[in-house]
Amino acid sequence: MRRLLSVFLVMLLGSALTVVPATARTGAAHQVTYDKYSLQVDGRRIVLQAAEFHYFRLPSQRLWRDVFEKFKAAGFNAVSLYFSWAYHSPAPGAYDFTGVRDVDRLLRTAQQAGLYVIARPGPYINAETTGGGFPAWLKNVPGRARSSEAGFQDAYREWLHRINPILARHQVTQGGPVILYNAENEYQVNTDAAYMQDIQDQARADGIDVPITTNDCCDAGSWSSTWATGPGAVQIPGVDDYPQSFECANPDAWGPWGEGLTEKLRDDIPVFAAEYQAGAIDLGNAGYDKCRELTGPAYMKYFYKNNLVTTGATMFSYYMGYGGTNWGWLAQPNDVYTSYDYGAAITEARLLTPKYDEFKRQGYFLEAVAPLAKTDAAATSPAAPSNPALTTTTRANPDTGTQFVLLKHADRAATSTDDATLDWAAPDGRHQVPVRVRGRDAHVLVAGYDLGGQRLVLSSSEIMTHALIGGRDVALLYGTAGSPGTTILRYGSRPEVKVLEGAVRAAYSGNDLRLDYDHDGLARVLVTGGGRRPLLLLLGTDETAATFWRAETGFGPVLVRGTELVRSATAQGDTLRLSADTAAAGSVEVFAAPAARRLRIGADDVRVTRTSSGSLLGATRAAEQPGLPALTGWRSRAEAPEAAPGFDDSRWTAADHTTTNSPHPPKTLPVLYADDYGYHYGNVWYRGHFTATGAETRIDLNAVTGLRGNYLVWLNGRYLGTAAGGVEADAGDQANPPNPDPGPGHFDIPAGTLKTGTDNVLAVLVANMGHNDDWIADDLRFKQPRGLVAATVAGTVGATPVTWRIQGAAGADKVRGPLNNGGLYGERTGWHLPSYPDKSWKTAAPATPGVTWYRTSFRLDLPKGHDIPVGLRFGGDPSPAYRVQIFLNGWNVGQYGGDIGPQRDFSLPAGLLDEHGTNTLALAVTAEQPVAGPGPLSLFAYGSVRGGP
Ligand code: GAL
Repeated sequence: MRRLLSVFLVMLLGSALTVVPATARTGAAHQVTYDKYSLQVDGRRIVLQAAEFHYFRLPSQRLWRDVFEKFKAAGFNAVSLYFSWAYHSPAPGAYDFTGVRDVDRLLRTAQQAGLYVIARPGPYINAETTGGGFPAWLKNVPGRARSSEAGFQDAYREWLHRINPILARHQVTQGGPVILYNAENEYQVNTDAAYMQDIQDQARADGIDVPITTNDCCDAGSWSSTWATGPGAVQIPGVDDYPQSFECANPDAWGPWGEGLTEKLRDDIPVFAAEYQAGAIDLGNAGYDKCRELTGPAYMKYFYKNNLVTTGATMFSYYMGYGGTNWGWLAQPNDVYTSYDYGAAITEARLLTPKYDEFKRQGYFLEAVAPLAKTDAAATSPAAPSNPALTTTTRANPDTGTQFVLLKHADRAATSTDDATLDWAAPDGRHQVPVRVRGRDAHVLVAGYDLGGQRLVLSSSEIMTHALIGGRDVALLYGTAGSPGTTILRYGSRPEVKVLEGAVRAAYSGNDLRLDYDHDGLARVLVTGGGRRPLLLLLGTDETAATFWRAETGFGPVLVRGTELVRSATAQGDTLRLSADTAAAGSVEVFAAPAARRLRIGADDVRVTRTSSGSLLGATRAAEQPGLPALTGWRSRAEAPEAAPGFDDSRWTAADHTTTNSPHPPKTLPVLYADDYGYHYGNVWYRGHFTATGAETRIDLNAVTGLRGNYLVWLNGRYLGTAAGGVEADAGDQANPPNPDPGPGHFDIPAGTLKTGTDNVLAVLVANMGHNDDWIADDLRFKQPRGLVAATVAGTVGATPVTWRIQGAAGADKVRGPLNNGGLYGERTGWHLPSYPDKSWKTAAPATPGVTWYRTSFRLDLPKGHDIPVGLRFGGDPSPAYRVQIFLNGWNVGQYGGDIGPQRDFSLPAGLLDEHGTNTLALAVTAEQPVAGPGPLSLFAYGSVRGGP
């Protein structure tokens, strides 16, 4: 009923208010519906398999395609996209959707790669990004954020009316890829139903007509269980699950946050795993490889399959599929540093990992085996293991009877290898089959399945995929290396069985062909006759299965064994053309219709022979390894003229406000909060002028920078020292009052520094490490100020009045956006830009307290037709005495330093990096003490493949 109502609303509001340009239509329009089992597109059930991607963490449009093609090649049929308000809006009323912020192009690229899109425009997104996606100017807006209060409401509606029309014209219903619209993000604390309802009403008014979802936090289904009906309820609520938590230093921890079973929130909707953990933030600075281990293939096998069969989820979105980079000031300061690699299946440098292989094994299965989209839990499992160390759980498709049996250890933490005989009452008969579960693992076994033209009675191998290729079924099954496998197929009469490769025993009785084997390498069995079309059965291990790729072509589906990645395949005459990446010299085998007689990979004709399996076999060429130049010829220049008393600050902004909209009352006046003066990102300078009485003895400051931030202080040009800035915890929350003394710094005025009776200048450089998110929606944390929050010049006769000026970023960079720069002198003057004339700079010298810039350039000419991700490596020991902002061709690609995080390698993404030309590196070193400089520095290649996006 509610659905009908909302459709009616769309008709009413949508037609009146929305302008959907006809040009946006890129494909045929489709209808999206759902029932308690699954989503349906034009009545066809789909299992939605999405992985999360943040375009704002990969500012290179060409590489969006690469990531999307990699998702698709792993069997994903969707991508989940957060849209960051902060990324598009430098100031109220100002929005930019051009260049790296061109989301029309992003959505078109997703569609071209064959992916649906789950659109998640917030307004709040969390995501460990600055402000949780809220622009920092929102901190000045009255009205509690994430509520229906007036000031905030005007602001978020402004954003929604910019982003929604773009999303609307790319909906599935308009021939585009957007299949779901996610409102808000883990909205669980501040239960303002009017706000949740208004987001949806605005979306409908803007033409959104696909189902609206939301992602509930923390297993409980908190929002949606309270607000299942009535104002604020969404059509398809889903749940976020992070069963491994985020302690990457301890990858052996196993499900500290539980089994991770996504709850069914309502009887009329599919189970939606809206964010299922597929990596982790690196809370303990263990490095992302540890996070990849924590959430590696063993975890994926156990938790993902458990969720699939135990809860029957048919809508999945894995967070993250690809993490990317917190370039510029994108990071929320509390949980992340520059890299947002996330330990994801695809690394920050876009390399594929063993986690990718596991996604592919599971993804291909979900893609190929249609009965999975409609299953009910079986009250008792029809498959009983003889060993109590193992358990089974079963779901079955009510129409086809197909069974899905989850086989796992009874104790989820068990690491033992356990054997059992499975007594299995399958739909086509009862059988005993040997099984083995090794360590933290789980298997989904299928029985009673029409596998193409075959009838699969059951198999203790897992199905990866199957396809009708050239008039025969080709099926790829797999199991743990060394474990026993049994596959039983039904025939009308005795078929002919030919074992082409491997050790497989075949027995036929009572219409059943039983094949027994151990999983080892790749066995091949050809079955013909028996009243069915031929079957080529490929029986692999986890590892050999992962070497296969599937693609759709004019020849029909093809399977490719080998290469690093098959992006797509096309039929051209008698040639099969693969768009594929290859790294090492090796073999490539193609299972395609007999009409395909030749093979071409990229620009290479590959000489092929036909195998006894009917496939084409050829060889791949190794990729070239690039020679990368040494980084030499560094020049440097000290900046920070702001610290000198004679510096002209008359054009800086007067910091003279006596009131603020911040929920944090000022401790001293004037209000010095950087955001109140429009300086939202990066470093900010203050200059305070006072006429000294001669009685001043000390300077007491409070500054809030966010975690890992500091500030530096000068009086009349003399460096007084540094202090650490306040952090999120200082903001307080619903339970704790704010800290009255955040980020304190006390500086004694050295003898001879003060100039009595005349102007004295106090200069302070404060880092702004980014803005807190608003996860608990209480305003105090998100709206915690940045910059100086109190300042007193005092002595024996009380405080001396100070007048202040403030200077942050000179304005938003048109190309790189508002998050690229802060207010360092060099940034305001363009020292980070490639065009800056640095010829007059001297050869690199050590850095003194303050800011020193280092620049050099290098030429690249990487091998053509390759994809070679390049990084910048800091050697030596990082010191807490300095921090480095790294600019590549003007792009702020990250921050390095002993206090910043464990990161030593920084990704220089193609697009920002000119792979065939001159590149400029500019490093802004902010030093607390004299330091030698930022080196040693080198370029390195993360990998090299022939091919690429
Ligand atoms: C979720 C949130 C995401 C992200 C994730 C942790 O709770 O919805 O945006 O913050 O946690 O990486």
